[in-house]
This record gives sequence, structure tokens and C-alpha cells, in this order.
Amino acid sequence: MLPQITATRFVTPLREGGSLPGIVEASDDGTYVAKFRGAGQGLKVLVAEVIVGELGRRLGIRVPAMAVIDLPPALARYEADEEVQDLLVASTGDNLAVDFLPGSFGYDGSRPPTADEAADIVWLDAFTANVDRTWSNPNLLVWHRQVWAIDHGAAIWFHHSWPSRGADASRFASQPFDASEHVLGDVAGDLAAAHARACAIVTPGLLAEVVGLVPTEWLEPAPGLDDAAAVRTAYVDHLTRRLENATVWWEATA
Ligand SMILES: Nc1ncnc2c1ncn2[C@@H]1O[C@H](COP(=O)(O)OP(=O)(O)O)[C@@H](O)[C@H]1O
Ligand SMILES: [Mg+2]
Repeated sequence: MLPQITATRFVTPLREGGSLPGIVEASDDGTYVAKFRGAGQGLKVLVAEVIVGELGRRLGIRVPAMAVIDLPPALARYEADEEVQDLLVASTGDNLAVDFLPGSFGYDGSRPPTADEAADIVWLDAFTANVDRTWSNPNLLVWHRQVWAIDHGAAIWFHHSWPSRGADASRFASQPFDASEHVLGDVAGDLAAAHARACAIVTPGLLAEVVGLVPTEWLEPAPGLDDAAAVRTAYVDHLTRRLENATVWWEATA
């Protein structure tokens, strides 16, 4: 389970990204970047963050710790900025908290990761169809001189088109990944070795484990997926099918 915490203060919105995350303080005295359920694409973005971020962590990639953060209605009420207030009002309840990395800066190539770390990140993005890691939008932070991966909300896009599962499940299972625009394309080392490393770690059981970390309440039913358990199973099935098809999509990537 992800830790459960409560927001105690909204500090400031982060306006660089598209989704208006915000810095918040929490009941455990930690400072977090909150990604709000009321933003843009809603809960599915938070689900993708958990599944892909935690999968990355199991691959040995540095991903800031995540928690589920309850946003009490009172915090929303006292926010002066109208745009932010609307977002907070729409986001009372459980949101995603990502450990804030103070003093981190956006990846600019000046402190590249090792060739193996870069290749592992390319593999994660290829497996989860994450196109959100380019030079124009690196979604990597440098902190304590090391590279940290953030922002996985755009990956595993198949859930945006449930329930047309037949066609889309097959499409996701075999869709090649275009690594030519990847921000780490130049520094990534032996991709075949990264693939072998990842395939030794990622099993259907591990996929079920990371999907199991998603809070039940975030798993919205869809036509043909009547309850959270069915939605959870569908995530595991889609990811397992892509894993089984690795030779198809990975050949095009590497
Ligand atoms: N854990 C973090 N620590 C420090 N800064 C962060 C963290 N997460 C995000 N940020 C900052 O907030 C920006 C937006 O966050 P991101 O997760 O990329 O959301 P978006 O979906 O809006 O792009 C990032 O580009 C980065 O500058
Ligand atoms: Mg981003």
C-alpha cells in the first residue's frame, strides 16, 4: 500500500507543466508535489503515475516516493487564487503526493545518468508507451547529482479508450515505441542488456503487485468493467500482453 497522509497547507501551484500540480505540506511533516484528481484527465493520470512510477522503482530507476494525500475541503475554501481554488474544490478527497525534491532542476544534459540508467529509463518508457520524455519535455529532475524520473501520467494510454478493449488491447500489446525523440536516446547504453535486465524483473506477478498499489477508489468502472476489481484485472491483462509481446515492440525500439 502507498502511505496515506493528509494535506495541511497548500503552498504554491507549479505552472511549468500542463496539469497545475501544486506544492503542499502534509500531516507527516513532509513537503510534496500534489497531482490533483480534479485536473485535466482526472483519475486515470494518477493511476498511470502509480503504476508506471512504481514499476520504474522496481527496475532500479530513481522515482520520488509516492503517497495518497487527502485534501480536506477547508484547504480548498481558503485558497485566494481563483483558478487554483476551482482545482482544489474539484479535488477534495484522495490525490497523489510525490515527494518534493528541494533544489532539484530540470534535466538539461549537464549531468547525464549512467549509460545503464538511461537505457533502463528508455525501456520503461518503451514498455509503458510513455512519449512524455523528450527534450522539449524531459520529465527528469537532477537532484543530489542524480537523475530522477517524474511525470508518468501520459503513459499506458489504453485506459483512455476503455472499453473498446478488443482492438485497443492488441494495439497496445504490440505498438512499437519510437525512441528517436527520447531525451536519453544519446546517452542510453546497451539496450539489449537493458531489455534482458528488465525481463528478468518484470513478470505478470510484479505487474499485478504494482497495479495492486493503486487505491481502489481511483479505479473507475467503465462499460464492461463493472467494478474496481475488473478494472484492476484489465490493467494487469493489458500490461501482461505487452510484456508477452516484447520481441515485437522492442525490436522496433532498440
Ligand atoms: N517531486 C518533485 N520535486 C520537485 N519538483 C517537481 C517534482 N515533481 C514535479 N516537479 C516540478 O513540477 C513540474 C510539473 O510536474 P510534472 O509532474 O511534470 O507535471 P505536469 O503533468 O504538469 O507536466 C516539473 O516539470 C518540475 O519542475
Ligand atoms: Mg511534466
